[in-house]
Amino acid sequence: MTRKQVTIPDLYQKKASQEKISVLTAYDYPTAALCEAAGVEVVLVGDSLGNVMLGQGSTVGVTMDDMLHHIKAVRRGLSSCFLIGDLPFMSYQVSREQALINSGRMMQEGGCDCVKLEGGAEMAETVKAIVDAGIPVCAHIGLTPQSVSKLGGYKVQGKDLAGAQKLIDDAKALQAAGADMIVFECIPSALAKIITENTSMVTIGIGAGPDCDGQVLVYHDIVGLSMRKTPKMAKQYVDLFAVIQEAMQNYVSEVKGGTFPQKAHEFAMAEDVVGQLKF
Ligand code: KIV
Repeated sequence: MTRKQVTIPDLYQKKASQEKISVLTAYDYPTAALCEAAGVEVVLVGDSLGNVMLGQGSTVGVTMDDMLHHIKAVRRGLSSCFLIGDLPFMSYQVSREQALINSGRMMQEGGCDCVKLEGGAEMAETVKAIVDAGIPVCAHIGLTPQSVSKLGGYKVQGKDLAGAQKLIDDAKALQAAGADMIVFECIPSALAKIITENTSMVTIGIGAGPDCDGQVLVYHDIVGLSMRKTPKMAKQYVDLFAVIQEAMQNYVSEVKGGTFPQKAHEFAMAEDVVGQLKF
């Protein structure tokens, strides 16, 4: 069955009717096709690409070219999912002009429906400029991996009064700037609930409890391909590493044992042609 294209008004409608929204990361064509087939509503090509696809230690090294390469592949695999492209580190912080140019590339070259950027009130003017250009923005506060050096590690944010109040003020500033969506990463559930209940933005949590309007996880974490211990906020639904490893081991042993390929995998040639061949 073909689904209708998911739009920003659909996401607001889901928030209003308290229908939870499923968001998953994808970085390539087959994973995008799987998201469609599974009924995922929003696909994020996250800069977590650096960690889970490129084997980098953080998201800091991911470039616009990396992002666009993967976003284009994901776009080809999607028909109805809403597609968010993550603006990588230093692709929007330098100037408003740079943020507009790179957001435009995400939409025009990558075929995104929305761009995501990390940061709170300090990013509000940038968000406003992008929104004023007609590009929907998903903000991202709490644990913002592009600032991992400044945060001093991958730590839960907003646990004390000052930290929590700052995140509330950030959310207010981002809403006023025109962001339609906001990701909360690793913040206390009670804080995510308060913001979700008081903001018009569609809130998407990762490590932010059950009361957000939707949830996002990294694809490689849910299928057991992330090459890391499953983080506390994620859930592994299948161990694809073990499944794929077994398939590969079977292939290796069949090649070595001569049981692959079989007749069914071969291409035949007429005997008389074979008889005329000279080498
Ligand atoms: O890059 C990413 O995958 C993200 C999600 C964790 C929200 O930003």
